Amino acid sequence: MSRSAHPAGPRHGDVLPEGHYSAPPTDLNALDPKVWSQTVTRTADGTVTVGGIEVTRLAEEFGTPAYFLDEADFRARCQAWRDAFGTDADVFYAGKAFLSRAVVRWLHEEGLNLDVCSAGELTTALDAGMPAERIALHGNNKTPEEIERAVAAGVGHIVLDSFQEIVRVAHIADRLGKRQRVQIRVTVGVEAHTHEFIATAHEDQKFGIGLAGGEAAEAVRRALKLDGLELVGIHSHIGSQIFDTAGFEVAARRVVSLLAEIRDEHGVELPEIDLGGGLGIAYTSDDDPAEPHDIAKSLREIVTRECAASKLRTPRISVEPGRAIVGPTAFTLYEVGTIKPLEGLRTYVSVDGGMSDNIRTALYDAEYSVALVSRSSDAEPMLVRVVGKHCESGDIVVRDAFLPADLAPGDLIAVPATGAYCRSMASNYNHALRPPVVAVNDGAGRVIVRRETEEDLLRLDVG
Ligand code: LLP
Repeated sequence: MSRSAHPAGPRHGDVLPEGHYSAPPTDLNALDPKVWSQTVTRTADGTVTVGGIEVTRLAEEFGTPAYFLDEADFRARCQAWRDAFGTDADVFYAGKAFLSRAVVRWLHEEGLNLDVCSAGELTTALDAGMPAERIALHGNNKTPEEIERAVAAGVGHIVLDSFQEIVRVAHIADRLGKRQRVQIRVTVGVEAHTHEFIATAHEDQKFGIGLAGGEAAEAVRRALKLDGLELVGIHSHIGSQIFDTAGFEVAARRVVSLLAEIRDEHGVELPEIDLGGGLGIAYTSDDDPAEPHDIAKSLREIVTRECAASKLRTPRISVEPGRAIVGPTAFTLYEVGTIKPLEGLRTYVSVDGGMSDNIRTALYDAEYSVALVSRSSDAEPMLVRVVGKHCESGDIVVRDAFLPADLAPGDLIAVPATGAYCRSMASNYNHALRPPVVAVNDGAGRVIVRRETEEDLLRLDVG
């Protein structure tokens, strides 16, 4: 048995404290392809590589903490979604998961469209050359300026989220002498089995217009009367990090039945339905997400069947995956600092980042995996909590995981599946400098979002 550098924490065979984990993994050096991006492998000498480069070299060149994004994997996932849905459907990547100019160019090259939800995302998309007609604008409280910029740019559609917005978008379009294509977002009343903060189709929350009480039908009535609007479809997004596809199926059925009501009342068959994003990904080996192909097949079947039953022409389907495309493509690389074994509990492993680069664990109780990547180790598993360097005890990156007991300061550890909602939700808490995003491909790393500097912080501080 290897010598343990941290003898106080629980070991294999001990009774373990309460936590979110199962038994210690049998091989701590293994990298489960479910949670690591496609080109990540461990070489014979134990170092981990991504895109053909050792993480130790990446750390030297780009520093830590940093997000490393596997470009080939990103492109492959775009292709998988595009191929799964085919040419009679549209895939809109949800930019809120992570957006940068490089990402916009990849999306454009791979034939995806883009969903934006703020002026900042719209600017990034247009600046990187995404054709406006391939952009959709979302948001529950779009400002008049955001709407005006989107209409003036000629975005493909705007998703209307309230009665006020129906009027507001129509007025702005009139003023600009345009007719804006719009969809209406409805809340279909599905309880998605996910964290409360990322479930969006139950009635008691801020998004969309209710279906059950007839508000959605009223919204359609109003939108159809306004010259500035071309109502092209109905939109539903039931939530995020969802594994049970039954929710999407119920949503599809309810949206189609609204289309039938609209046809009966107005004699109009709306040509589009958008079923939103929300497909879950594997953060740990316990997660089993559905494949885009299977999602596409089941949604298409339901929509086709329900439309046939209501004698409707099958509308063009669109979806808006964010996490499922970018989430698995990146990992965060950290350097290990302080290691604190707590007798009978667990060992706290502090890294050089934390809740400022990954707020998801603190905010949603999200689960992550972690691995030692600068070398392999045959030391026994040690129960750890990976924590950051912020002044909060809730500053947890990985709540419960196992790392080798010979872990030492200076080792590099990586947290996989951090491509979505980590850099995009990063903060400057404690004046942390937000880490860079480095795209790795074909043996080279390229910074696509640079690391913040202290000058960046001081530039905003004009007092
Ligand atoms: N479409 C709409 C209208 C959305 O609101 C969202 C996500 C998506 C698509 C993309 O969902 P995805 O496929 O990425 O799950 N910060 C949370 C997630 C918030 C999602 C907000 N809307 C997290 O870190 O889990």
